[in-house]
Amino acid sequence: MISAVALSPALDVTYVVSELHGIQRPLAVRRVGGGKSLNAARAAARLGADVLALAVLGGGTGQVVREAATADGVVVEAFDGGALTRTCISISSAATGELTEIYETAVPVAAETFDAVLERLADVARERPGWWLVSGSSPQSLGDDALTRVAATVRAAGARLAVDSHGRALAAVVRDAAPDLVKVNRAEAVELTGLPVDAPLTDLVDAVGRRTGGLVVVTDGTAGATAGDGRSRVHVRLEGHVGLFPVGSGDSFLGGLLVGLEETGSLGEALRLAAAAAAANAQVPGAAVLDPELAREWAARVALG
Ligand SMILES: Nc1ncnc2c1ncn2[C@@H]1O[C@H](COP(=O)(O)OP(=O)(O)OP(=O)(O)O)[C@@H](O)[C@H]1O
Ligand SMILES: [Mg+2]
Repeated sequence: MISAVALSPALDVTYVVSELHGIQRPLAVRRVGGGKSLNAARAAARLGADVLALAVLGGGTGQVVREAATADGVVVEAFDGGALTRTCISISSAATGELTEIYETAVPVAAETFDAVLERLADVARERPGWWLVSGSSPQSLGDDALTRVAATVRAAGARLAVDSHGRALAAVVRDAAPDLVKVNRAEAVELTGLPVDAPLTDLVDAVGRRTGGLVVVTDGTAGATAGDGRSRVHVRLEGHVGLFPVGSGDSFLGGLLVGLEETGSLGEALRLAAAAAAANAQVPGAAVLDPELAREWAARVALG
């Protein structure tokens, strides 16, 4: 079982339009229960895992997010945040292949709401050991130590925490809580470590790993990803399946990684499923929308190095 804490969910809408100009009637529309945590949760659920998410939601969009995530196989336990859940829009131009992304900032979460989430988390994490994930930005209203408090609660229950975040929230949780797994992209790893933007992935992985002592994965778009657990490092890349819709590929990677770790206990096998899920996501519009059969088929063909 895989579980998630979603502090800043969003209604994610993807439009495919002929060109990004004037009035457009979309060629395709996709609505999903998004935000990074629910994206990774959806990817894991679509790959067949038993997935639950504790999510702060509000208003009509919150209801739509809840229903969409449920339809995708995620059991959602909602906390009323009192404010309308945000909407994030990705527009894909068929003429150029270019993506335009409009992300509303995370909706503020009140301290009392967060306390209620943590209280429930303490109980649910005992009932659901294994991997918990928290991804994306944490609402500014909660301060920089929100993820650290999530990590401490998950740990106290005997479960493991995977973090995919950025900026000050990531720096704080890495410094204060040493997550069991950190999955970040190159830009996030550079920001965290202060290494050059073109540093080798292995250096970025090692630098993050020295801070956490846990499993670290740094993804780098179509260049693949490198993982390290302090003992060994593995690079993973799926050749020949570059897709036009990579939004949410990092989230799909994390979902696939946790499913693979849970199913096999092998980092190599988990990285295969992660890279295949990420590539499958990039084939179709929508963040962390993927064909699970395609992901499983490709996983067998991913090269490790
Ligand atoms: N265009 C693409 N086609 C196929 N696979 C891709 C593509 N872009 C990325 N990937 C795969 O997805 C993984 C994660 O990509 P990336 O480093 O861009 O994540 P990210 O920036 O965290 O993405 P997001 O936050 O939007 O989910 C890569 O390691 C790679 O395996
Ligand atoms: Mg990401």
